[in-house]
Amino acid sequence: MAKTEKQIGILTAGGDSPGLNAAIRGVGKAAQGHYGMQLIGFRDGFRGLVENRSVRLVGDSLSGILTKGGTILGTSRDKPHKMQVEGKLCDMTDAIVENYQANRLDALVCLGGGGTQKNALRLKERGLNVLTLPKTIDNDVALTDTTFGFDTALGIATDAIDRLHSTAHSHHRIIVVEIMGHRAGWLALGAGLAGGADVILIPEIPYHVEHIAKAIRARVKGGKSFSIVAVAEGALSVEQRAHVAHLEAQREVSGEKAERRRLKGAIQALASDYANNTLRLSTQLEELTGLESRITILGHLQRGGTPSAADRLLATRLGAACAQLIQLGHYGVMVAARGEGVVPVALEEVAGNKKLIPLDHPWLEAARMVGTSLGE
Ligand code: F6P
Repeated sequence: MAKTEKQIGILTAGGDSPGLNAAIRGVGKAAQGHYGMQLIGFRDGFRGLVENRSVRLVGDSLSGILTKGGTILGTSRDKPHKMQVEGKLCDMTDAIVENYQANRLDALVCLGGGGTQKNALRLKERGLNVLTLPKTIDNDVALTDTTFGFDTALGIATDAIDRLHSTAHSHHRIIVVEIMGHRAGWLALGAGLAGGADVILIPEIPYHVEHIAKAIRARVKGGKSFSIVAVAEGALSVEQRAHVAHLEAQREVSGEKAERRRLKGAIQALASDYANNTLRLSTQLEELTGLESRITILGHLQRGGTPSAADRLLATRLGAACAQLIQLGHYGVMVAARGEGVVPVALEEVAGNKKLIPLDHPWLEAARMVGTSLGE
């Protein structure tokens, strides 16, 4: 086995996710133990690299972290090219390049979701040897079968739906359970199917509230006086989606920069107003069915705690493969999961390319076949 003295930087960026520590350990143990490389961790995402806040990850620091939630390095949503510094948004890419060089890094490993892939590509374009691993509970990173964090969150959300069943049943209520996922419905659809939700609403399929109410009333007629509605945080009604499309069309034709900015803000506000959208849905269902409705927002519970076995396994496989790619000098890629194996995918192909649920996806077909309403 050829030994090298390569020096690797590693950071975790974006929202935290179960399996991050397993991935840090996977990269680190393989890089150090197998290839004799050195590993430096940067704190709190890209900000730590800008501010050169680092920690040497040697021997013991990688032990005992496999089962831990969160990230031992800390994380942030800071972007290298748009970072808040003394109250102003600044491009800090030069500082990153300087610190990369000052630390004599041969490669930088960035563990993150969609935003991190874009940031990593920018650093690649500045000449850094960057690699990424796909992490997010949303499972919305392109060109990888799955992302670590998703399986754990799926288990938590499914368990929540299981628990909500008995209380909804006892009180003859509707319970609307809001599930994370940003603009993608993977988590809501997966947990909704696994937990037997009666209605599943996802961003990929705008819903008709009357159709949902009809499905719930049909359940009542059939003797089921309760219903569980699993709603992805980014799901929108047909009317809301049409309104967003209208604002987008206005933005498209508007020649004024300030107006375009205003419209962008209005679109984002509508699409990200998760709590209000969920509340509106619950209220409408009460009015249309005559049943009492309650809301449960699972929120950050879905990201906390011990990673599942599947996430630890995935993170370890991807981490070890990442070290191997560094040894081979193969940079500028995301280490993607493909079947039982792992493939490097060019960052250009991944960045800005969100993986939504295709409308012919087998999970959707299964949902329809078992009689789940998708609000279509
Ligand atoms: O991207 C992961 C995610 O958990 C989304 O599902 C959710 O919309 C978002 O992060 C929440 O972000 P924050 O941790 O900044 O509240």
